[in-house]
Amino acid sequence: MAKLWQGVTDANVDKIADDFNSSISFDSKMYKEDITGSIAHAYMLSYTGIIEEVEADTLAKGLEEILSDIESGKLEIDLSVEDIHTFVEQELTKRVGEVGKKLHTARSRNDQVALDIRMYLKNQTLTIIDLLKKLIGAVINKAEEYKGAIMPGYTHLQRAQPITFGHHLLAYAMMFLRDIDRAKDCYKRTNISPIGSCALAGTTYQTDRDYEAKKLGFDGVALNSIDGVSDRDFIVELLSVIATIQMHLSRLSEEIILWASWEFKFIKLSDSLTTGSSIMPQKKNPDMAELIRGKTGRVYGDLLTILTVLKGLPLAYNKDMQEDKECVFDGVETVKNCLTVMEKMISSIKANEENMKKAAKEGFINATDLADYLVKKGLPFREAYKISGGIVKDCIEKGKVLESLTLDEYKTYSNLFDEEVFEAIDLTNCVNKRISKGGTSISSVEMQIKFIKENL
Ligand code: ARG
Repeated sequence: MAKLWQGVTDANVDKIADDFNSSISFDSKMYKEDITGSIAHAYMLSYTGIIEEVEADTLAKGLEEILSDIESGKLEIDLSVEDIHTFVEQELTKRVGEVGKKLHTARSRNDQVALDIRMYLKNQTLTIIDLLKKLIGAVINKAEEYKGAIMPGYTHLQRAQPITFGHHLLAYAMMFLRDIDRAKDCYKRTNISPIGSCALAGTTYQTDRDYEAKKLGFDGVALNSIDGVSDRDFIVELLSVIATIQMHLSRLSEEIILWASWEFKFIKLSDSLTTGSSIMPQKKNPDMAELIRGKTGRVYGDLLTILTVLKGLPLAYNKDMQEDKECVFDGVETVKNCLTVMEKMISSIKANEENMKKAAKEGFINATDLADYLVKKGLPFREAYKISGGIVKDCIEKGKVLESLTLDEYKTYSNLFDEEVFEAIDLTNCVNKRISKGGTSISSVEMQIKFIKENL
């Protein structure tokens, strides 16, 4: 295949080197951005008088036809060509003749590829935000459904205090809400146009970079041409946003796996989202959650890839930068799949409220409330803590729980105890007394849902 760069070298590249150099197998993903970018470039060239208006029209028409032919399947992208930029330009010249050769005036593949990837990732970022919103919607629906379902809250994976399943789920909604914020913030910096930086130093033509950027929906232009072609911060940022989303998804997956186990039996996943075992008939495996947890590892790898590729690069463009694409494409596709699957999984969860409550009853998770009760009767917290600890210790030895002690038994520990102690340690009361902002009471959970809805 002819090269775009048959200048000083004879371009008879060794076949192995040629294949090694080629990026079309993955950068063809950006055909639409490449063509749209080129149409805007053609119009900028005529707007500034660098080419004739009719020439720009011919170029734009040819490019639009290429786009629609690719989309309809009429034109197949030739994978023996070096990259998508070369393919589009050569196809254009094939179609419109000599004028096609004017398209590359006042630009370089260096600013062109930087433009394409920014345009591509802007779109993908919006899709990711959309998927996050859908997931949050599913989470708050479940939280609403189970805002009164009492379960043990854990610290160190030890039963700690009673909470509701709804409250627990909303913690994840808050994480995903922050993820949206992070994605939007990163979008701002992706939304700067590099085109017109040319190879690295700008150009002698009287171009209008702002006109071209505006046509393509960018907020502004890169103000240093060297930075324009060398900057890949937005990829680092997007991958770190994605890695954070995956970390959240993975923590949630881990809990889903635990909750669905026979040891916990807190939730049931839909059969359509689990798999069986080829040998153990009793098995119902949470593969989706496990895969999300597993894929988090590879997304962290994607982030590390881009950081490492960039770390030693002198300015401006280096071919190393071609390695920026596969990692970010992989991260983007992976997180989109994981968000979609997680939304389905969350929507399908059926909580076993009875088991949750049972686990909450057995773990002395109302011991803090017992101590708080004594504090309200006038005892300093440290002393109340000590007495409650003693009661729990005796209960464990005798195989009892706090609810099963009689008032007389309580009185042997302190004469501050009266009938009200049973109300104080009742699990539903324990939950609904936690009305502090962000607490686990139903009213607080409802407030959280309202906040999230308002912020979506
Ligand atoms: N395929 C290249 C990339 O992805 C396009 C830019 C080529 N520029 C160059 N000077 N060889 O980075």
